[in-house]
Amino acid sequence: MSATLITNIAELVTNSANLGDGSLLGVVTNAALVVDNGYVAWVGNALDEPSCDERIDAQGCAIVPGFVDSHTHLVFAGSRDDEFAARMSGEAYDGGGILKTVSATRAAPEGALRELTKQRALELRQSGVTTVEIKSGYDLTVDGEMRLLRLAGELTSETTFLGAHTVPREYQGRRDEYVSLVANEMLTSCAPLAKWADVFCDQGAFSVDEARVILTAAQRAGLGIRLHGDQLAQSGGARLAAELGAASVDHCTYVTGTDLEALAASGTVATLLPTAELFTRTGPTDARRFLDAGVSVAIATDCNPGTSFVTNAVLTLQLAVTQMGLSVAEALYAFTAGGARALARSDVGGLAVGQRAHLALLNGPRYVDLVYRANPQPFRRVLTF
Ligand code: NIG
Ligand code: FE
Repeated sequence: MSATLITNIAELVTNSANLGDGSLLGVVTNAALVVDNGYVAWVGNALDEPSCDERIDAQGCAIVPGFVDSHTHLVFAGSRDDEFAARMSGEAYDGGGILKTVSATRAAPEGALRELTKQRALELRQSGVTTVEIKSGYDLTVDGEMRLLRLAGELTSETTFLGAHTVPREYQGRRDEYVSLVANEMLTSCAPLAKWADVFCDQGAFSVDEARVILTAAQRAGLGIRLHGDQLAQSGGARLAAELGAASVDHCTYVTGTDLEALAASGTVATLLPTAELFTRTGPTDARRFLDAGVSVAIATDCNPGTSFVTNAVLTLQLAVTQMGLSVAEALYAFTAGGARALARSDVGGLAVGQRAHLALLNGPRYVDLVYRANPQPFRRVLTF
């Protein structure tokens, strides 16, 4: 495959501090980049650019690494608009609505579910996402969770088994049996289809002890682990994530100072979900506390029908800055390099030599415009070579 030169880039965000301005984002101005066989092969000033068979003119616009959306629940059917409207009239979110989505998803024919999922993934892609994690969790039977993971696997290698999303109706009053099903037969059947296992560890969902049983079984089955923690209360999820060496703990709305120390020590990423807080009227979480404590931060859309029916990644970025206290550079880093770290990936999330050429070309010269402006089409093109 021949090399492609992308040139006339006003600002190129590489996320490599030894490039360009030496900042966190490693911004190279008046830049060019060479893509060879899907990977970045050269980065530098356009005055020094090599000649290549193919050439793309960025026309003086900025280029950023594609967003790495490390937390989504894209495979579901049905709507929870009624629950959302009730919440905006004062009801609290407690996770109870998950069962409504489970009924709709179980009833959905495979073709319909595939189309719904593909459309959501396409919308994310158009908003700059080039790597997406997708969870199961809206069927909660062995065969059904496998079906959701197969559909997710058609779109990404970052598939996550979330059999422990809630206790399904047919197991109500028998939650121990359900936890045992998830940690045994369901996990064994789903493991070949998943890279990760996740548990909704929170008040009204699964306890720390239940989550520990499921996640340690997942580790034994060879899966990486991540969890939903501290979304609805101080659930102990973040501390469990640190104890087990999870790649990421997600939500973290109610984490304590002790939790932050544990996360910093374990290297577990805290994935903050600004739109889930916006649409449940909780938070906003102060992301500065995490950075000040030495915790790695990612941000993600958490696209799901209950708390964050969001396929607009730029909105997520904008809220991380305007509501959670991150600088524009920190938020962009969190949604690219941070997301990659949350998925234990070093090949995505940046545009240094050797990384995947996954990038988004803005409609203007400054990457800051992604947050400064709220325009309907911030990107001219989103490219994955
Ligand atoms: O990340 N908290 C658990 N899971 C989702 C919501 C699921 C739902 O309500 O359907 C979340 O917010
Ligand atoms: Fe979630």
